[in-house]
Amino acid sequence: MAILTKAIRGTQDVLPQSSYKNRFIEQTMLEIGENFGFKEIRTPVFEHTELFNRSVGETTDVVQKEMYTFDDNGGRSVTLKPEGTAGAVRAFIEHGLFNEPMPQKFAYVTPCYRYEKPQAGRLREFHQFGVECFGAGDPSADAEVIALAKSIFDFFGVDDLTLEINSIGCQKKKKKYQEALKEYFKSKREDLCETCKGRLARNPMRILDCKSPVCSEIAAGAPKILDYICDDCRSHFELVQKYLDAFSIEYTVNPSIVRGLDYYTRTVFEFVTGSIGAQSTVCGGGRYDGLVAELGGPSVPACGFAVGLERFMMLLEARSIELPGENPVDLYIASMNTEANITAAKLAAEVRSEGVPCLFDTVGRSLKAQMKYANKIGVLFTVVLGTDEIEKGTAKVKCMADGTEKEISLENFAEDFIKMSINKAVDDFDTGDMNIDLSSVLGGLK
Ligand code: HAM
Repeated sequence: MAILTKAIRGTQDVLPQSSYKNRFIEQTMLEIGENFGFKEIRTPVFEHTELFNRSVGETTDVVQKEMYTFDDNGGRSVTLKPEGTAGAVRAFIEHGLFNEPMPQKFAYVTPCYRYEKPQAGRLREFHQFGVECFGAGDPSADAEVIALAKSIFDFFGVDDLTLEINSIGCQKKKKKYQEALKEYFKSKREDLCETCKGRLARNPMRILDCKSPVCSEIAAGAPKILDYICDDCRSHFELVQKYLDAFSIEYTVNPSIVRGLDYYTRTVFEFVTGSIGAQSTVCGGGRYDGLVAELGGPSVPACGFAVGLERFMMLLEARSIELPGENPVDLYIASMNTEANITAAKLAAEVRSEGVPCLFDTVGRSLKAQMKYANKIGVLFTVVLGTDEIEKGTAKVKCMADGTEKEISLENFAEDFIKMSINKAVDDFDTGDMNIDLSSVLGGLK
């Protein structure tokens, strides 16, 4: 039955052969975030449905069409998070973090769920790295979160992302803009999709990010919000640009960017690429000064962004950007008989307790098959234990890259192995052979 052996459409497995890449990317992003003062927050994967209705917005595509919403056994409507901001804001309010020194800066890696039509770069379960900065209304904060995103892309060597920014102003002038949009769309009502017909009365701005090709074409000619924002918002936006200049970050002002979520105010931005097809927005974010209050907290300004990790990985692949390889297994202890294998288990435990990745045979293979396996999985060193080795109390450790061997004691196995492997790596480094990646050996010593 395919239902038992096929993952749900729009979801992806990350297999052991490649999961090191995801881990490296996620850890690196969190670490770069830490350099900017963002600390990790983890919030539940599901929340009360109302939280997303109120924050993301009732008239958005996400809430209207894409949420995974269900009643739990207690009859409460819950929703798998379609994005990371709402949960972070809820946690910020619930734990009274507005009483802590501002700004409060959070970073997260989270799965997200949206019932969208799956295609390359568009999944139903996807992952975001995101940051949220609370309590900083100054334009420098907008520029700083953008600078963080840029630092991440620079670190990975991604050079074909362009930054597009816009300001959608504050609530004050939004009414006037909504009216202008209503006026514009009214004459084209018959051509709009059914959802957008409903949006026309309730929230015409959301027509601007409808995914239907006809609505998108009509939306392209709509009035631009930049022509409607108030003076305060205009100077805020100008200062954001001055800070971006100070950070030497290139950008273009794109008056069509309004973002698909209702909570944004003032600055909005996207990093887009031409390398991964139609789903070209790798990172999106902006300011949301009204959301904390909207959800029941005090009035606290905030801004942030999220990077879609699957799209980011597609981009790395498209640009042939290599990530550091998987950590190799340092040592494989092969054995010639059961008694030797029991000693192998004991030695493996000693070596592992020093932090060195080490394997021995748990399949019952012949010695030849064990060595073949060790070779196949790219082990750095092997050692063979038989009755002779156990009697003598020493065994030869072989470097798989160049075949050189060194005898070490079984009594002091873990310590001698570590010393030997470091000496070998240093000798190789000196002679330029570089058979062993020193970092992998030293990694075991941490
Ligand atoms: P968003 O633009 O909806 O913003 O999503 C951010 C990123 O998540 C997108 O740029 C894209 O890379 C990725 N993404 C979105 N939907 C999918 C999908 N179906 N499949 C694969 N990737 C996807 C937010 O979610 C905001 N919470 C960002 C934010 C944080 N704004 C302020 N703080």
